[in-house]
Amino acid sequence: MRLRKAVFPVAGLGTRFLPATKASAKEMLPIVDKPLIQYAVAEAISAGAQELIFITGRSKNSIMDHFDKAYELEAELEQRGKSKLLETVQEILPPGITCIFIRQAEALGLGHAVLCAWPAVGDEDFSVILADDLIDGKLHPCLAQMQRVYQEYGSGVIAAQRVPESETGAYGIVEVNPVGSRLGEIQRIVEKPKPDVAPSNLAVVGRYILPSRIFKLIERTAHGAGGEIQLTDAISALIQEQTVLAYEFEGDRYDCGSKLGYLKANVEYALKHPEVAEGFREYLSARSSAWSESGKDQ
Ligand code: G1P
Repeated sequence: MRLRKAVFPVAGLGTRFLPATKASAKEMLPIVDKPLIQYAVAEAISAGAQELIFITGRSKNSIMDHFDKAYELEAELEQRGKSKLLETVQEILPPGITCIFIRQAEALGLGHAVLCAWPAVGDEDFSVILADDLIDGKLHPCLAQMQRVYQEYGSGVIAAQRVPESETGAYGIVEVNPVGSRLGEIQRIVEKPKPDVAPSNLAVVGRYILPSRIFKLIERTAHGAGGEIQLTDAISALIQEQTVLAYEFEGDRYDCGSKLGYLKANVEYALKHPEVAEGFREYLSARSSAWSESGKDQ
């Protein structure tokens, strides 16, 4: 059982990052030197994806260009003998990987975005990655961890993480029956419930492995939370028919859809980046000494 197809819903407006996202996609915001979408694509490929399906909207041409071959740039780098940079550009997409771009004419919600991928996915199981949930899976990328669960149980798998109870209103929240370590069978899933009605504090984060059956169920899904067609509601219908597992992945997640999460991700990835880690660590340490000094003065 291989997951050959990965879907990337990238049609969101990214209003939380305006004006940076006025003319360019939020998924192109860099974490140190790579855009968010490139981390997501690398993660999908690590789990065996060969066909990348991007559901795009307006101002998303930069994503298409990013994964396209840049002849002029490559020729220029080659001519200038910048072989390391040339490699960096050529490695963005490994050979044998196909990209498909589907335009979501109207932004009607995550469920609707996923539905747009149906013609390209067909009747296979597939994965969905939300690029603004950046996950540092430490030993193994999050989707690769989930793929192991998928292979063992042969059912849908959704990434999950405990969140503070006060934050349930920002996520899909699941109630599970424990099945194994880090694993539970979803009994109930609700989109963005307020803390007083949330079934738990186990939140869905942006990684899903789903059967193609979900498309039929999304088609039947009415507008839900926020007036949008919610993937969560279609998953709620799916669990009436078949097992779907919630998997608490190993690793750290950064909510790069928020400014604070995005900044934290940049700090953590910079501290591991071979080119800047040392200088950045020195800077941070000098900065924090200056803070303690100024704290003493107050
Ligand atoms: C979407 C999903 C939500 C999930 C979240 C993870 O919400 O609808 O169920 O918990 O992604 O990031 P969004 O953040 O797009 O509003």
